Amino acid sequence: MTTPIPCPPSLPFLGHVASIDGDLPVRSFSLLAQQYGEIYQFHQFSSRKVVINSYELMHDVSDDKKFIKNISGALEQVRNGVGDGLFTAKPDEENWGIAHRLLTPAFGSVGIRDMFDDMYDVAMQLVMKWERFGPGAAINAAEDFTRMTFDTIALCAMSYRLNTFYRETNHPFVQSMADFLLESGHRAFRASVVTNILGYNTKYEANIKTMADLANKIIAERKNNPTGKNDLLDRMLHGKDPKTGKQLSDENISYNLLTFLIAGHETTSSTLSFLMYYLLKNPEAMRKLREEIDEVLGDQPPGLQDLSKLKYLNACLRECMRLSPPSPTRAVDARDDTIIGNGKYAIRKGQTVIIAVFLTQRDPKIWGDDANEFKPERMLDGSFEKLPPHAWQPFGFGMRACIGRAFAWQEMLILVPLLLQRFELAMENPSYDLALKQTLTIKPKDFYIRATPRKSRAVPL
Ligand code: HEM
Repeated sequence: MTTPIPCPPSLPFLGHVASIDGDLPVRSFSLLAQQYGEIYQFHQFSSRKVVINSYELMHDVSDDKKFIKNISGALEQVRNGVGDGLFTAKPDEENWGIAHRLLTPAFGSVGIRDMFDDMYDVAMQLVMKWERFGPGAAINAAEDFTRMTFDTIALCAMSYRLNTFYRETNHPFVQSMADFLLESGHRAFRASVVTNILGYNTKYEANIKTMADLANKIIAERKNNPTGKNDLLDRMLHGKDPKTGKQLSDENISYNLLTFLIAGHETTSSTLSFLMYYLLKNPEAMRKLREEIDEVLGDQPPGLQDLSKLKYLNACLRECMRLSPPSPTRAVDARDDTIIGNGKYAIRKGQTVIIAVFLTQRDPKIWGDDANEFKPERMLDGSFEKLPPHAWQPFGFGMRACIGRAFAWQEMLILVPLLLQRFELAMENPSYDLALKQTLTIKPKDFYIRATPRKSRAVPL
C-alpha cells in the first residue's frame, strides 16, 4: 500500500499557478516544502508535477534506466531559441547523441587544459577593471562575473571576443540573451493566451533573431576563414560522430553555440557570486582560503599545475554549490510505473518529478543539523569522495549531466586566486543578507562588494 502524495489546495482551471511565484519560484518551493515535507504535487495548467525535497527521493530518481530528463516549463520555452541543442534536446532527438559524442572529448581534462590561456586572459580583464576602479567603487559582483564568464565561453568555444569589459552598455547580443532567458522563464508560469494579449511575442522573437544572427555570422566567418584552432566550433564544423559517422547541421551548430553561451555563463557567474557572499559572511573560511593561496602561489600568478593544489578552494566551491546550486531544480520523467521512497510513493509512467536540488542538498539526514551552514571542511580530506551516492549534484546527473563541469571548475580556480592575491574584499553593506534573483538560475540579488588592493602583495599584472 503506497502513501498518497500531498497536494496543496488549488483553484479551478488554474490549478496551482497562483501558488508559484513567477519571479522567484524557489521561494514558493521552499514554503511548500516547509508545509508538506519531502514530497508534494501541484498542477500547472493541465499538467501535474511531483516535487521532491529529500536526499532519499533524489537518490531514487537519479537513475537513467528509470527516469529521463524532462523538457518542459522554462526549458521548453528556451527551445524557442536553441532548439535541439545539447541542453534542451528531447531524449529521443538524434542530434543530442551526435553532439554529445562529438563534444564530450573537447570538454574533457585535456581539451580544457588547452583553454587555460584564454581563460586567464579574460580573468585578468576583470582583475584590471577592479584594480582601476579602486576601493571607492561599489562593484555589482554578479554583473562583472557575468561579463567574465560570457567573454570566456565565447573566446574558448568559438574564438570570438565579446569584449564586454570594454563597453559602457551591454553588448546587444548579451542584452538579447538576458531578455530572452527572463521571458522564457516567465512564460513557463504564464498562460500563452496572456503572453499573446500582452504582446510579449514581438520583442521575444526579435531577441531570438539577434542571437541567431550572431551565431550564424560567426559560423559563416569561420567557414570562410578557417583558423585551425580546433576550438569547439571547429570540432562541430568538421567532426564526425564516431558512432554514426554523421556531421552536425549548420542549424544544430548554431543552436549549440547559443547553448554554450547560455549554459556556460550564468551558472558559473552565479557560483562565483555565491562564493563571494559565503566567504565574506564567514571570515574564518576567507582567512583560511587566503592563507592557502598565499602558501601555494606566493606572489606568482596561478598556473595550470597549481590548480589541484588549492584543496581548500576546491572545498569552498563544493560547499558553495551544495548550499546554492545555480540550477536550483532539475526535472525528470518516469520511464515506467515505479515506486520511490522505500515503497512509499507511487509514480506513474510519464509523471514529471521536479528535484528541488537546493533543498535536497541540505537534507539534515546526510549533512547533519548544521546543513544550512557554510562549512568547507565537510568537503575536505576525502569526505567529498565518501559522500553517499548522488548526494551532491549541482551539475545534474547521469547521461544528461553538465558537459561543462571541468570547464567551469577551471575557470573558477583561475579567477578566485587572482582576486584574493590582489584584493581585500568587503561587502558594500556589511549587514547584507542573502536575497535571491531567479532567471534560469538563481544568484544573489543586489549584492555589492568593494575591492581594496592588498598593499602587502605586489602581484605582477
Ligand atoms: C547541463 C549546471 C557550467 C554546458 C547542466 C545541468 C546542470 C548544469 C545542473 C543538467 C541540467 C538538467 O539535468 O536539466 C551547471 C553549473 C555550471 C555549469 C552549476 C557552473 C558552475 C556549464 C558550462 C557549460 C555548460 C561552463 C559550457 C561550456 C552544459 C550543457 C548541458 C549542461 C551543454 C546539457 C548537457 C546534456 O544534456 O547533454 N549544467 N553547468 N555548463 N551544461 Fe552545465
